[in-house]
Amino acid sequence: EVENPLRPRNLEEYIGQEKVKENLAVFIEAAKQRKESLDHVLLYGPPGLGKTTLAGIIANELNVNLRITSGPAIEKPGDLAALLTNLNPGDVLFIDEVHRLSRSVEEILYPAMEDYALDIITGKGQMAASYHLPLPKFTLVGATTRAGQLSAPLRDRFGVVLRLEMYSPEELAKIVTRSARILGIPIEADGALEIASRSRGTPRIANRMLRRVRDFAQVMTDGVITYQSAKIGLDRLEVDEIGLDANDRRMLNAMIRYYNGGPVGLETLAAAIGEEAVTIEDVYEPYLMQIGFLNRTPRGRCVTRAAYLHLGLTPPGEQTPQQ
Ligand code: ADE
Repeated sequence: EVENPLRPRNLEEYIGQEKVKENLAVFIEAAKQRKESLDHVLLYGPPGLGKTTLAGIIANELNVNLRITSGPAIEKPGDLAALLTNLNPGDVLFIDEVHRLSRSVEEILYPAMEDYALDIITGKGQMAASYHLPLPKFTLVGATTRAGQLSAPLRDRFGVVLRLEMYSPEELAKIVTRSARILGIPIEADGALEIASRSRGTPRIANRMLRRVRDFAQVMTDGVITYQSAKIGLDRLEVDEIGLDANDRRMLNAMIRYYNGGPVGLETLAAAIGEEAVTIEDVYEPYLMQIGFLNRTPRGRCVTRAAYLHLGLTPPGEQTPQQ
């Protein structure tokens, strides 16, 4: 089901996330030795770090099928029941955005995870009947951007909880080099590192930048991605030296111009820049916090001194540098 050629298919090919990989390898091996299904796995972390990829790898390493769905796609308990009753023993069911399951769906998921059974009630009054339907043993792999968004009863039913971290530029350079080889794109080490350095710790962004930089290199130079051609492409894409794009800079500038750098509440900020609060939380903030440009305080979001300096602005209370 996962047919993107850039997705690694086994743990060996998967770059980075060393702690996650080491522990997962042990849990998978142990389950295989005991001929049991792997315990349910929760993957959490910012988008684009490889949660779907890891779900595919888990299924591959276990030699079982992978079924992919998402929290919002499972509208009714019956949708989940249909998925679960069609699994083969040991299969992996991947639920992306698992924090967005409805209450009624979550409630039938609990006995499914815990006892491998569906408890279904049909009809009303005298016609009411309850069924206890055994299911094949399966592994639920759930993914979410923040574990804190999950209800406690759901979170507690995952035996394995893994947090994905942002990748270092060196790890991303390895990923970019691997992707370029698969796509047949000529690339020099400096070119890969330049793309990696501007990809905000995220393989999905690095792979997207690789394709766009290839376009510029192909049309404007001899097609080889060098440090120079990578720089030209990334500058044209308005991605700066540390990976901030026009949206990141727009948000920081709005916080500085309209709210003196903060504190500003999330909803207020969202309205000011015309984005949804969850987009700010899941897409913009993780990297800005990672690089120390943004702080979350109880009173709201604050821009840091480092961010002012990066944007070429004078931090509050400091002298304007002499020209
Ligand atoms: N592509 C996306 N994420 C990757 C990873 N962690 N390792 C190798 N290739 C990838």
